[in-house]
Amino acid sequence: MKNANIFISAFFLVLFGAFLSSRAQLPTANYDENRVPEYILPALPTTLKEWENSRSGLIAQFENEVYGRVAEGSFRTEVTITRQRNGVLAGKADLKEIRVQIITSRGELPIDILLLTPLGSTGPMPVILGLNFYGNHSIHRDTAISLSDRWMRRNEDYGIENNKATEASRGVRAYRWAIDKILSRGYALATFYYGDVDPDFHDGFSNGVHPLFYQEGQIAPRPDEWGSVSAWAWGTRRVLDYLQTDPQIHEGKIALFGHSRLGKTALWAGAQDKRFAAVIANNSGCGGAALSRRKFGETVQIINTSFPHWFCTNFKKYNERESQLPVDQHQLIALIAPRPVYITSASEDLWADPKGEFLAAREAGRVYSLYNSTSNPLLEKIPPSHTPVLGPISYHMRSGKHDVTDYDWDRFLDFLDLHFK
Ligand code: GCU
Repeated sequence: MKNANIFISAFFLVLFGAFLSSRAQLPTANYDENRVPEYILPALPTTLKEWENSRSGLIAQFENEVYGRVAEGSFRTEVTITRQRNGVLAGKADLKEIRVQIITSRGELPIDILLLTPLGSTGPMPVILGLNFYGNHSIHRDTAISLSDRWMRRNEDYGIENNKATEASRGVRAYRWAIDKILSRGYALATFYYGDVDPDFHDGFSNGVHPLFYQEGQIAPRPDEWGSVSAWAWGTRRVLDYLQTDPQIHEGKIALFGHSRLGKTALWAGAQDKRFAAVIANNSGCGGAALSRRKFGETVQIINTSFPHWFCTNFKKYNERESQLPVDQHQLIALIAPRPVYITSASEDLWADPKGEFLAAREAGRVYSLYNSTSNPLLEKIPPSHTPVLGPISYHMRSGKHDVTDYDWDRFLDFLDLHFK
């Protein structure tokens, strides 16, 4: 009996220890400006020639050390228009659904695009390509939009049962997509579910696009090969491949939008692929627009621990060693230059380090100035809430929480009008 008691106590002690150490892995986030470490950012070249010569080396550093390079290997795609309906969304829009099937010698993966255009318009028109979190059907309740049958994160409020969307999932994220505004201002909207490319949970990379590119005997990406963010960015570029062929779309006016983890994705995709004519990264935070070296809010260690599958394995070397990173996120934004980029923060979204997002944008401005020394109005100091600064690098701080609101969309459209019209 006594032995059993000792055994039970020891068992709970071990369990409690495991609990403590799992907690201990995640340091508490710093929200105190006075405790931001002193840091020196990797320098940006001072001439355009130097910058352009360094660009591909910089992309390689982001590939090797942060996001992971796309695995080598050939693939082809098959495009099918799977549905076309006119007069959807209460008569305001025309709808087209397109499946891009990715095919390699190891398997196939479908990416389903929803394209909404203003009723009756033939184009070619500018388009906003935005990744969505809960399936194409989540951005509007209209039943003309196909319901995704892919794996989806549990969310009872969103009608997701057994990791699948149901009819109750329609329109659950409509509040984040100002579709009427977008269409009425003359833009098309294209979207796809990021989970089509790689379901967002850590399964050791056995699902999604990664296994399609494994070499013989390979079971996981190599330390410098793609994590999920890089995979989502790659999928986004495959959607871009399609959009450039769609006669309704102006191939030179394709803007990429992403929020949060998908803002990180948008920046990485935009940095790599010059065909994206503009990039909007909303509340993108750590691994997005925010400077890693500030260690404010979410840090490299925290993100690598909570989301071990997002970045490449090499990125984990920089847990608590941000100063050793060969790059920082201002360089990621600079890689989009001279194409317009919009970095946006929310005042209460401290987890994403609004100030770090602004400072990265400001630093990237140096590279934009190399292309055009007079065109970049970005301020020295972080502007107050609801005071957008629009230019090649644009920035605003919205008051409130981590989210995408109508205020943001109005500004995004102003930004795109400025550059596309
Ligand atoms: C978490 C994560 C962030 C990410 C966010 C999101 O909060 O820590 O890095 O941006 O999820 O994607 O909503």
